[in-house]
Order: sequence, then structure tokens, then C-alpha cells
Amino acid sequence: MGKITEALKKAAEERFERIEKISRIKEREILVIKKQGNSKVDACVIPYFDSKAHISEQYKILRTNLLSLNKGRTPKVVVLTSSVHSEGKTVTALNLAMVLAQSTQKPRVLLIDADLRRGKIAKYLGVDQKIGLSEVLRDKAEASDALFNIDIDNLTFMANGDIPENPAELLASEKMKEFLSIMRTQFDHIIIDSPPIISVTDAGILGSLADGVIMVIQSGRTQRGIIKHATELLHQSCVQLLGHVLTNIEYHLPEYIYRYL
Ligand SMILES: Nc1ncnc2c1ncn2[C@@H]1O[C@H](COP(=O)(O)OP(=O)(O)OP(=O)(O)O)[C@@H](O)[C@H]1O
Ligand SMILES: [Mg+2]
Repeated sequence: MGKITEALKKAAEERFERIEKISRIKEREILVIKKQGNSKVDACVIPYFDSKAHISEQYKILRTNLLSLNKGRTPKVVVLTSSVHSEGKTVTALNLAMVLAQSTQKPRVLLIDADLRRGKIAKYLGVDQKIGLSEVLRDKAEASDALFNIDIDNLTFMANGDIPENPAELLASEKMKEFLSIMRTQFDHIIIDSPPIISVTDAGILGSLADGVIMVIQSGRTQRGIIKHATELLHQSCVQLLGHVLTNIEYHLPEYIYRYL
């Protein structure tokens, strides 16, 4: 047998072993999603409180745009990032996950807080959730110990957990790839919140594991040069940039123009 044939055979065997390993894990994995009964959801998660509010409609427009990408072959795993801190990534991720879960088909939605440095999803949901992605990636907990929901059954969350020493290495690990492959089999949409791309490499790593990245831009604050630099960093990580979300927009038209009810 020629060397090339042998090498191809070996690669195919390795691939088969990897797939088998993942399916074995899949069979074993019984996803237990525990309920966090005493959540005190922050007022900025508007679709949770009023799914018909004007602001909820804006997130539904984002949902429609996302669902109609790639001629309906919607990217399943989507990362939210921004150029710099505090542009509205986490609130956008939460509200997008919420309106996706509110769709009539009731898809299974997972929101992962992959900002292992200063994640705030548990805080915005008002829950005391200490075990999160960081523990799962360090083999200190099973996914089932970290997955939880509040009072919406088809919307599941995973908090960030304890701040680890090596966030970028954990996100780039085989364990993260394995974890995401399993989650892909269990959920219809996976939204991943991440740190800003200019400060740390995490969003680039996550973006390369996902089907696409949405970049959040705070209007009136983030300068064009910074956005351009952030976009270049994303392209260098070979991620697919799906689009942008502008936050903090000031309306110059009277509010009644946007009202329809
Ligand atoms: N669409 C929006 N319009 C106006 N303000 C917003 C919007 N989205 C979020 N905010 C506000 O911006 C602030 C920062 O939001 P958020 O925590 O989502 O930012 P972040 O980008 O995740 O920050 P960090 O980089 O610290 O993770 C919050 O006070 C939030 O209420
Ligand atoms: Mg955040």
C-alpha cells in the first residue's frame, strides 16, 4: 500500500474514532437542567417582561434578520462581541436569546456566558449560579451541573463560573470543542456572550468555533478606527462576521412613529 493511501486510511480511522467518542459522550450525557426558582431578572431584559414593547420589537427584528441569513439555513452557534467593553453585548445576547425562545415553534435555546473574565449573565438574571463554563472546561463539573433555566422551559443558560487563570487556553481547548459539539446536538440555537475583541483574543477563538459572529457597536461612542481594527482582528481569526447591532441609538423622530399598536 502506498504511503499516501496509508496516511489517508490513518486519518479516516482517527476521524471515525473522534466521531465515535463524541457519540458515546452524547449517549451518556443526560442533560439535567435545573430550575433557578428565585430569579430577579434585570429590567434591561425587556422581552422577558413585555414581549410587545417597542424595544422587544427591535430584538425581534434582529431575530428575523438572523433567521433569514443563508437563505434560511440559520447559523446555529452565534457569538456576540464588540470592539471595547460596555457596548451592550450581554444585554443584546440575553434579549436575542429571549426572543428566539419566544418564537412560535418554541425552539430550544441555550445562552452561554463565555466571558470567563467578567461574565454578567447570572447577575442580569438575578440568580446565584456559581458553577459555569469555567468549571465544565476545567473538568470540575459536568455540563448538567452548570445548565439552568428560570421560568421559560425552552431557554437554558450557562453562567461563566469562577474566573480561571487561563481563559483563552480553556476556550481554545479540545474540551471546549467537545462541549460545543454536544450542545449542538441538544439545542436549536446557541448564543454565546464573549469579551470585547480588542482587549483579549477570546472572541476570536469562540468565533472560529461558532457559525458566525455579531458585532455590537455602541453608537455615539465607539470610533470608526476602533471598529475597523476590531473587524480586522475578527477576520484574522477566520470568523464569519454575520452583521452588526447598534446600541444606544437616540431617536430623532417622535416615539409615536415607531408605535403600531
Ligand atoms: N440597546 C441598548 N441601548 C442602550 N443601552 C444599552 C443597550 N444595551 C445595553 N445597554 C446598556 O449598556 C450597559 C452595558 O451593557 P452590557 O453589560 O450588555 O455591556 P457589555 O458589552 O456586555 O459589557 P462588558 O464589556 O463589561 O461585558 C448597561 O447599562 C446596559 O443597560
Ligand atoms: Mg458583557
